[in-house]
Amino acid sequence: MENTLDGKVALVTGGGRGIGAAVALRLAREGAAVALTFQRDEVRADQVVRDIAAAGGRAVAVRVDSADPIALVAAVDRVAAEFGRLDILVNNAGAFLLGPLEELSLAQFDQTVAVNVRAPFVASQAAARHMAAGGRIINIGSNAAERAVFPGFALYSLSKTALIGLTKALGRELGPRAITVNLVNPGPTDTELNPADGPNAAVINGFTALGHYAEPADVAAAVAFLAGGGGRYITGATVNVDGGFTI
Ligand SMILES: NC(=O)c1ccc[n+]([C@@H]2O[C@H](COP(=O)([O-])OP(=O)(O)OC[C@H]3O[C@@H](n4cnc5c(N)ncnc54)[C@H](OP(=O)(O)O)[C@@H]3O)[C@@H](O)[C@H]2O)c1
Repeated sequence: MENTLDGKVALVTGGGRGIGAAVALRLAREGAAVALTFQRDEVRADQVVRDIAAAGGRAVAVRVDSADPIALVAAVDRVAAEFGRLDILVNNAGAFLLGPLEELSLAQFDQTVAVNVRAPFVASQAAARHMAAGGRIINIGSNAAERAVFPGFALYSLSKTALIGLTKALGRELGPRAITVNLVNPGPTDTELNPADGPNAAVINGFTALGHYAEPADVAAAVAFLAGGGGRYITGATVNVDGGFTI
């Protein structure tokens, strides 16, 4: 049986663990060849590659710091050259630097904006040069773009809110080329960044309607839908996968 993404090539930033790994595995299961980036943890990234290969898919892991725009663009170009095309870009890698306003540094500001805002911009710019009609750009934002329920989120929230504007502007601009651009905003999702058994988990669960964290695969399911044929008429949209956190 033919899979939805057979013949497609996907690049997932921060695909070595957490949500990005679930996205990489899901897109591969749907038939895409997948390149994933990681920053430090090569062992985990290689494990995702092996899991995809064991299931009969094709994947590579590339160490690229999303804060380095030159390296990121080079990685996009290399993936498109080595795989022969690029159909799907998932801008997932994220910086999660929290703290009281008075204590946040300019270095933390720059790092947050570099990884969460500049990297999706430059990777989209590079990817769009390679994409044909049917291309997909999917940004991973956060429920923190819409609801500020805890103090300390100034940098993270501002960076994720920027993705709403980027997604809409690129959706408008790339629409005539039949490339869609969408934003998936996860809510609390059980990863090392935000473990479901962490100290604030009970309070966080209380903000959701469903009363519990998402699994990374829940977010990956929405990404896979947008990446597939079913997503062809959805662009510039924000899809909340947040258990009702932002209701
Ligand atoms: N978990 C949640 O509750 C939640 C909620 C809303 C939104 N999000 C968003 O979802 C995305 C993924 O979060 P997650 O929870 O899956 O995070 P995670 O478990 O911490 O995994 C992060 C992944 O991104 C990679 N990464 C981090 N910084 C990078 C950089 N500068 N360059 C390249 N790769 C980098 C990491 O690589 P290494 O393994 O090499 O370190 C890792 O593969 C982020 O954008 C986050 O803001 C998460």
